[in-house]
Amino acid sequence: MGTETGSPAWLKQAIFYQIYPQSYYDSNGDGIGDIPGIIQKLDYLQWLGISAVWINPCFVSHFRDAGYDVDDYYRVAPRYGTNRDLYRLCREAHRRGIRVCLDLVAGHTSIDHPWFKASCRSRRNRYSDRYIWTSSIFSEAKSTLSLVRGYSERDGSYVANCFYFQPALNFGFARPDLPWQQPVNAPGPLETRRELIKIMDYWLGHGVDGFRVDMAFSLVKMDPGHQETIKLWQVIGEKIRARYPDIALISEWGNPEESLAAGFDIDFVLHIGLGGYTDLFLNENSFFLRHDGGKIQGFVQSYLEQIAKVKGKGLISVPSGNHDIKRLRTDGRTASDLKVIFTFLLTWPGVPFIYYGDEIGMLYITGLASKEGGYDRTGSRTPMQWDSGPNAGFSTADKDRFYLPLDPRRNRPNVEEQASDSGSLLNHLRDLITLRRHYPALQADGTLTPLPVETSQRHFAYLRQANDERFLVVLNPSAEPSSTKIKGIKPGNLSPRICRGVQACVEGDDIQVKLAGVSYGIFKL
Ligand code: NOJ
Ligand code: CA
Repeated sequence: MGTETGSPAWLKQAIFYQIYPQSYYDSNGDGIGDIPGIIQKLDYLQWLGISAVWINPCFVSHFRDAGYDVDDYYRVAPRYGTNRDLYRLCREAHRRGIRVCLDLVAGHTSIDHPWFKASCRSRRNRYSDRYIWTSSIFSEAKSTLSLVRGYSERDGSYVANCFYFQPALNFGFARPDLPWQQPVNAPGPLETRRELIKIMDYWLGHGVDGFRVDMAFSLVKMDPGHQETIKLWQVIGEKIRARYPDIALISEWGNPEESLAAGFDIDFVLHIGLGGYTDLFLNENSFFLRHDGGKIQGFVQSYLEQIAKVKGKGLISVPSGNHDIKRLRTDGRTASDLKVIFTFLLTWPGVPFIYYGDEIGMLYITGLASKEGGYDRTGSRTPMQWDSGPNAGFSTADKDRFYLPLDPRRNRPNVEEQASDSGSLLNHLRDLITLRRHYPALQADGTLTPLPVETSQRHFAYLRQANDERFLVVLNPSAEPSSTKIKGIKPGNLSPRICRGVQACVEGDDIQVKLAGVSYGIFKL
């Protein structure tokens, strides 16, 4: 059953949680997180109120890019367990009301994938056109495509998507202008599309509930406005949803107008594409800074324009973070700052995505050696901190066998301590999730009405509404106190739900609000 957003109904109240499997929980003491480890932590996720997980790629790989270089789409990487473990994860998650989405690396394989090895041969074979090859080693791309030369005996260069070891699968060119650039309906691209559908079908048939699609925008090459890529995903989505109508398709795209037209249910506000994530949290003048922060109005304006454009087609998500971005807990942010940020994230439209560890305020670790193609992303991928023990409850292995070192601080945050502290960040998030799951006004498509803010002030206030249910949210990330009169909203009453440092009282049709430094308040009107 769809909603007025066009997406499956369950997404409306969904809370997603992203798991980087190698760093989550190691069940067999080899120093690397695994799928049985995730199964053991499902009770925790259920306690937190999570309704769906997205797991970073967990398939056979040489892990030059942490699994975004797939060698076999049909087999779970032995370091994470077996296919049976993954099927069991789906069953166990479903028993707890949690759905499971996998990461689909649709645009490229690794150089070790058997398709690519066959494609590298000079003798023509079934896989010659599975990837994009120039017609001779010295021919130019005449575009911004990156070519890798001299890798194999085949007289041609291949197109790589991101790293050199990620050869682009051939979904064709929107406007081919050289002989080796095949149109989207040539036999090679059509065969690639069939294979992609087969992979999706396989995992959905084993209980998976959807996919986050890696670089979903990138499939058709030289595609202005991504018009052909959009059509391609429309075809794929139609075929897949005919069999699995209730699945979630989530894109890494960064342009909701395009991606939701392509049939995705959710797109992200990211550090790429239309950007926005970095502006909100990680720039020098981001709004969510204690000192010297900027205004949020630019972000809000662009967000409102985007939701107006995609109304009825799908949702836009502002994630707490992901494996490609610095963690929120960086640049001197404390748990109190994160409480303000989570109040925003959990009362904002779209679908909240919580990156593992952000719920306890795990730190972005600087100075780590790059691991599996992580480079400066490595500091956001360290082991989950479950307890205050020497190994943080992540693994029983010797620390030198850990996938990545733990946060070295003695007082690093952990789940066990925060779960039993009612004032912790973790319990704050849990309260926010409980509230959101209860009230449609706070969920994905409740109306958002930002309220005007005097130019001298740094707080932010907005209403969320569904039917006759209304909430007022006020946030002050700044260290400076502030105050405001919210005019003409005629509150029936004013009941504080989750508040710290905010006083509000009704004055006729208005509400007078006083905000301490670093404060937040959610009021039911
Ligand atoms: C985006 C993924 O999130 C990132 O981790 C990966 O390196 C690239 N796509 C290439 O697949
Ligand atoms: Ca393990």
